[in-house]
Amino acid sequence: MLVDGKSTRTIWLAANRSTVKIIDQTRLPHEFIIVDLDTLDDAVKAISNMQVRGAPLIGVTAAYGMALAMGDNATDAGVDIACKVLYQARPTAVNLRWALDDLKAILDPLPERERKIAAYARAAEIADEDVEQCSSLGDHGKVIIKKMWNDKSRPERINILTHCNAGWLATVDWGTALSPIYKAHDAGIPIHVWVDETRPRNQGANLTCWELGQHGVPHTLIVDNVGGHLMQHGQVDLCIVGTDRTTAAGDVCNKTGTYLKALAAADNNVPFYVGLPGPTIDWTIKDGVRDVNIEERDPSEVTRLIGLTEDGYISTIAISPKASPAANFAFDVTPARLVTGLITERGVTDASEEGLAKLYPEFK
Ligand code: MRU
Repeated sequence: MLVDGKSTRTIWLAANRSTVKIIDQTRLPHEFIIVDLDTLDDAVKAISNMQVRGAPLIGVTAAYGMALAMGDNATDAGVDIACKVLYQARPTAVNLRWALDDLKAILDPLPERERKIAAYARAAEIADEDVEQCSSLGDHGKVIIKKMWNDKSRPERINILTHCNAGWLATVDWGTALSPIYKAHDAGIPIHVWVDETRPRNQGANLTCWELGQHGVPHTLIVDNVGGHLMQHGQVDLCIVGTDRTTAAGDVCNKTGTYLKALAAADNNVPFYVGLPGPTIDWTIKDGVRDVNIEERDPSEVTRLIGLTEDGYISTIAISPKASPAANFAFDVTPARLVTGLITERGVTDASEEGLAKLYPEFK
């Protein structure tokens, strides 16, 4: 997608073909900074500190983390240690496990001297696959928006509500929830996006607003709790969100607060769609509420806010009494019954075991 009019991905290889380059997402929207990852430790920290975030991008960074690790220690023990530390970097996005399993299956049978080249090659392939999948799910999602546009009796614009950042910054390019929006916008359909700020880390305010702005998509930032009100007043035509892990039965784990949006959408007959590429499906579980490991992050993310001061410095402020404890559950689960449809690279399906099995028969 575009940054200052220039086509950019979120992760790429430097000219030396070994350093991995990322956009430091903790600095956006105030500063656009590119950071080098040269070691396994750099990759682990980039994931856990959320310099890179979003399920698909976490997976791709983990794959490159394996490649960086192989440059240092390509023994069997080196493969196992790299998998272990990367796996622990963030617990909820299943793309992380998916990418590490994929890399391990390729690296294990190879002689040590071939592992580094193979790991870089596969990481690059996974990155390219992610771009293709996200582009393709965008094409499928665009059909839903177009149909709504053609059917609509009040044809000024289509209002779409999204939560967190499931745009190109959360993937390698295009995004999941935002990919259909970019495709529809590029096709000339007038779109307006309601962007949930997404406390505590404000990915909506910081990242979604920034990338929609870079691409010229009209949008309005709202506080997390206003979506229900907008839906009651006919101001939301549909919701599209991303997911960090969708179960084989269609339960959707995504950024905390997604569930409440889905409840409000169901109460107001607003269609609630989820965009996801295949590697975000966890085929090993069905019951999301029971079986997804929900990340609990540092409470200081809840008790503090990070932003730009009037003198142009990025600064942190406290918003609660020092003595008040805080809890920081980073994700929640929306049961399949509240999801209108899953938009995948293979097409749109209802959120059900049968629907997903039809699209992905190889996992049945
Ligand atoms: O904590 P984050 O910023 O990694 O959470 C990201 C989300 O919740 C996204 O909606 C999800 O990863 C889907 S990304 C295309």
